[in-house]
Amino acid sequence: MYQVEEATQLADRVFQMWITAPQVARHARAGQFLVIRAHENGERIPLTISAVRGDAVRVIFMSVGKTTEYLSTMKKGDALSDVAGPLGKPSEIKNYGTVVVIGGGVGIASTPIIAREAKEAGNHVIGIIGARNKDLLILEDEMAAVCDELFVTTDDGSKGIHGFAASVLEQLLKERKIDCVWIVGPAIMMKVTSNVTRPYGVLTFVSLNPIMVDGTGMCGSCRVTVGGETKFACVDGPEFDAHQVDFDSLMQRQRMYVDEEKASVEHYHH
Ligand code: FES
Repeated sequence: MYQVEEATQLADRVFQMWITAPQVARHARAGQFLVIRAHENGERIPLTISAVRGDAVRVIFMSVGKTTEYLSTMKKGDALSDVAGPLGKPSEIKNYGTVVVIGGGVGIASTPIIAREAKEAGNHVIGIIGARNKDLLILEDEMAAVCDELFVTTDDGSKGIHGFAASVLEQLLKERKIDCVWIVGPAIMMKVTSNVTRPYGVLTFVSLNPIMVDGTGMCGSCRVTVGGETKFACVDGPEFDAHQVDFDSLMQRQRMYVDEEKASVEHYHH
């Protein structure tokens, strides 16, 4: 069993949970994820490792389905039946020079750990975090503390720059030399934002979030097309070279999943 060390709400339907898991905490690196099962008969859900503190790891999730809704009700002292990880390949962190770490919506969850490791590797780190509105922005203070510079955007202008992370990135690319970019967010946002770096030939990583079941390369549910080849996000990723990713097929598969999620939430409530 894995104890919940702390559980709080960060934004509308967005929750953070610190889980005591010494083995996981010891080995966790930026870009990796956990597969969590709240109770014995629960479904397994993959969640990115957002931070490490002593023996605990933090995950951040949006309550969008039966399992995440249940997780959001868990409190300090409750126990999860299973926490497997760290899974997936760590982010390819090295001293690139100047890097930009971009988080969109709940995808911001993944950015502080990437920014911190990039900083430790000697990079000048620029953060861009964006959300639909100010109530959905998370981890601003944390990102401000770790990044050399931080830009905040909201789609509706309720905080920071009125607009999208992609526009800020475009401006940065025009003004200075950017050596590497990470983008974590909804698939459509990663597609649009990574297209901005394409003409500049800047190495760009995205963290893909397809359906995952076992998280160990056995079930095939997380298959994605990268560079024309089939890859499994859980073992070959979840980070990939953005300019090689077939986002359209990813989004198509995710849409199928959303319908199933809706059905499962309805089932849970009735
Ligand atoms: Fe099953 Fe990746 S989640 S193969």
